[in-house]
Amino acid sequence: MPNWLNDAVFYEIYPQSFYDANDDGIGDIAGMKAKLDYIASLGCNALWINPVYDSPFKDAGYDVRDYKKIAPRYGTNEEMYDFFKAAHAKGIRVLMDLVPGHTSDQHAWFLASKKREHNEYSDRYVWTNGAFVGIADHPYISGMTEREGAYMLNFFASQPALNYGWGIVTEPWQSAVDSPEAIATREAIKDVMRFWLDHGCDGFRVDMADSLVKNDDDRKHATASIWRNVRDMLDKEYPEAALVSEWSNPYSAINLAGFHMDFYLDHWHNGYNTLFRDYEPHPEQDNSYFRKESDGDIRRFLTDYLPKYGRTREHGYISMFTCNHDTPRPARTLSQNELKLAYAFLFTMPGVPFLYYGDEIGMKYLNLPSKEGGYHRTGTRTPMQWNHEKNFGFSKADDIYLPQDENKDAPCVSDQEADENSLLQTTRKVISLRHAYADLQAGSSFDVIYAEGHIFVYKRGSLVIGLNTGKEDAVIEKDVFRGRTLLYQIGNPEVQAEKLSLPAGSFVILK
Ligand code: NOJ
Repeated sequence: MPNWLNDAVFYEIYPQSFYDANDDGIGDIAGMKAKLDYIASLGCNALWINPVYDSPFKDAGYDVRDYKKIAPRYGTNEEMYDFFKAAHAKGIRVLMDLVPGHTSDQHAWFLASKKREHNEYSDRYVWTNGAFVGIADHPYISGMTEREGAYMLNFFASQPALNYGWGIVTEPWQSAVDSPEAIATREAIKDVMRFWLDHGCDGFRVDMADSLVKNDDDRKHATASIWRNVRDMLDKEYPEAALVSEWSNPYSAINLAGFHMDFYLDHWHNGYNTLFRDYEPHPEQDNSYFRKESDGDIRRFLTDYLPKYGRTREHGYISMFTCNHDTPRPARTLSQNELKLAYAFLFTMPGVPFLYYGDEIGMKYLNLPSKEGGYHRTGTRTPMQWNHEKNFGFSKADDIYLPQDENKDAPCVSDQEADENSLLQTTRKVISLRHAYADLQAGSSFDVIYAEGHIFVYKRGSLVIGLNTGKEDAVIEKDVFRGRTLLYQIGNPEVQAEKLSLPAGSFVILK
């Protein structure tokens, strides 16, 4: 386990929307480099960067055409290698996004695979043995290639599934997980990982990490054993490199597959969902814990979270995020004050937290037409709002990647820099406390002291934390409050002997 993860706070950058340094309307590597000081000023010491590889961008870059080439719109490979160095010089590690389950249908492997003649890549993807032979329970395409067969899709129509074999082989065209072709795919992905790690990258966020082996069992044991093999490689060759999975089953991802971290994804009615966006499809009916008007109850989160945390805490970390490029932004339903409480919670919980660019100022979710396969996700991917210059300082171009917030109260970094009570400054302060107190970091102990409705009191190491996200004031009496003083607060909480008063909308850390 890389030690640095214990004190890591990640910032996710959607590169096309972060900062445009060459004024062509789209964010780039030079733009990320120019903003490293800003990222460091947030207290973020690690990055997850969405795919920057060469791609036709039918799925915003998750359709990789060449794993080893930077997309020209972002810059060059040399610029990326230099970016790793520049980030390291400021104490920031960089995870790239690894997309192991599928490629673009324009990837050279697939162009070879769809040829009629048998070749080295014929079995790199999942193909049936006839144009009229389909794949039960899976999406596939046939009738589009000179090769006689149908190929399986992993996501959109442009994303054919790579072949890691089948958990149970029932058809003659299915590969076993230990077949030479399935192993060749695994080794090809390890080769991609080594390529970037050798150039200075610090690890990977792994896209659809649970999706590799088809018809795997419930726990996804066969897929997990592929990742175990990858983890062994990292432990031997790159012990400081980190892996975070898009899996959302921490027992399988961490204990079985060997990921260092697993994302707690926004799945309808799981614990995470009840905290931040409990509303699909009606945001106006959001019943999440952090909305003061909701009847949200912290126990809905804890019932789901505690068993997951308990089973995995010795082996790795659960990662919670403010949002990611696939979910609506939290500001869609939460006010700036509610967001302060939400982030104060998120950055004082165990595990490794992730902040999505723009959430630190409460950027809004916008209702926009789809761009590059974004569909409803597009509204979370708009260009960063830096200041009051043209395009909020994102770019000097006339035409930019996506429209920006046109509301009068659209937040921006420069306004919030100037206001010590802003969401931005609150976020910075809480993250700085996390760095200052080992008790608040990923691996320190976590115990629930009191949890009912909107009131949540918990212990991290020797610190006690109290949160009231509701609209009623509360007073909690516990011996554990005796002799304690306020280390940090939002709102006006007070502690006196064994009484902790938590007014509506308040947060406190007691030492
Ligand atoms: C999950 C990614 O986060 C998402 O953006 C992408 O569209 C799919 N995987 C397919 O790669």
